[in-house]
Amino acid sequence: MVILLIYHQLSIIMKYSFLDYVIGQWSALPLVETADLSGKTVLVVGANVGIGLEASKHFARMQPARLIIACRSEAKGKAALAEIEQETGYNGCELWIVDLAKFASVTAFADKFEKEGGDLHILVMNAAIALPIYQPTSDGWETVLVYLIFCARSYDSYLRFRLQVNYLATSLLSLLLIPQLVAAGRKSSTPSRMVIVSSGVLYWITPAEEVKTSSKPLKTLGSEDWCIPEHMRSRYPESKLLNLFFVRALTDRLQTITPLSAVAVTPGFCYSQLRRVWYEKPTFSFAKIALAIQERLLAWTPEQGSRQLVFGAVGGRDNEENMKGGFVSSHGRLVEVADFVLSDEGRKMQDTVWKETIDILRGVSDKIAPIVQDYLVVPDSSIN
Ligand SMILES: NC(=O)c1ccc[n+]([C@@H]2O[C@H](COP(=O)([O-])OP(=O)(O)OC[C@H]3O[C@@H](n4cnc5c(N)ncnc54)[C@H](OP(=O)(O)O)[C@@H]3O)[C@@H](O)[C@H]2O)c1
Repeated sequence: MVILLIYHQLSIIMKYSFLDYVIGQWSALPLVETADLSGKTVLVVGANVGIGLEASKHFARMQPARLIIACRSEAKGKAALAEIEQETGYNGCELWIVDLAKFASVTAFADKFEKEGGDLHILVMNAAIALPIYQPTSDGWETVLVYLIFCARSYDSYLRFRLQVNYLATSLLSLLLIPQLVAAGRKSSTPSRMVIVSSGVLYWITPAEEVKTSSKPLKTLGSEDWCIPEHMRSRYPESKLLNLFFVRALTDRLQTITPLSAVAVTPGFCYSQLRRVWYEKPTFSFAKIALAIQERLLAWTPEQGSRQLVFGAVGGRDNEENMKGGFVSSHGRLVEVADFVLSDEGRKMQDTVWKETIDILRGVSDKIAPIVQDYLVVPDSSIN
């Protein structure tokens, strides 16, 4: 632990250092934020286990008119529904099926929402996955590797990570639901909220020069040629950086009068099933032991992590302008984002990624172009 701490302190100039992270994980968390959600619709994507399930229970206790949990497995979703009902007494929860690894499932989900979902007040995009094997999706999108910071030198630490699930499909569904979010905001006294779950690990990376300067960073990141171990060490933080870029780029393109606030959130380091594949692996590895020790020493419960998601969804109403494009830290407050994100090259990469994302998603759904046309504007600072 001490060696890793020194490694990080010496090798990376950071706003959020490894020491900040350790101290943060050992600090007390604020109580969960609450709000009156009567008459409102809340959608949580990736809600059958972990942080998403706990966030859904918190929303259920606030008695929304509708709480929709979107899961990829019907059986797991039904178990989550029963758990939410049993623990909270709320019986308005609905299970909808979506698989973010398939664009067709995402567009079908959005079509169903357009017909049956009505207005949407709170969207929480929480689903994410980490896999130990290479598996391109059926849509042809390349997976990328996950590197966890505490086991940098171990080959066991290389996990494959779905760029499609964590970034592209998350962005696709978020964009397709903008009409329902804006409609809800127009009829409500408060703007709707779009919460994208990111991670504090994004403070610990700066993308490689080839990615930063690429005219198609997603294509570069997703290409098999790029997926060699030394490029992959920072891949998981990079994928969470993309989530933050999306929130900030979208905010730049929403007119200030549009009643929708997009927020990125880090739940903090929590026990959950995110790292399930590490434990499923039958072989012994130091990385596995390092992970178990780190979890034992530092991890919060998923309920504690979920409080940040809830803050992103219902908190900070006294200063809505600050929430727009903000980053909610692992202690349920807004924090300044990483220096790279604020830098000129970070902003340039953010705009390039936005442009590439829209180009890709236009090819996936013919609803993306009219949504961009009707709801978004080109910001003055954009390179587009
Ligand atoms: N845990 C942490 O320490 C930590 C730290 C920072 C950020 N985060 C972020 O917090 C969020 C929640 O993670 P977690 O820790 O609660 O992980 P988790 O327990 O593994 O939950 C992830 C959720 O995403 C769902 N999901 C995965 N692939 C999907 C797909 N293709 N389509 C639809 N749903 C899918 C999972 O469903 P299945 O059960 O069917 O797989 C599950 O409901 C993630 O965005 C993660 O990156 C977590």
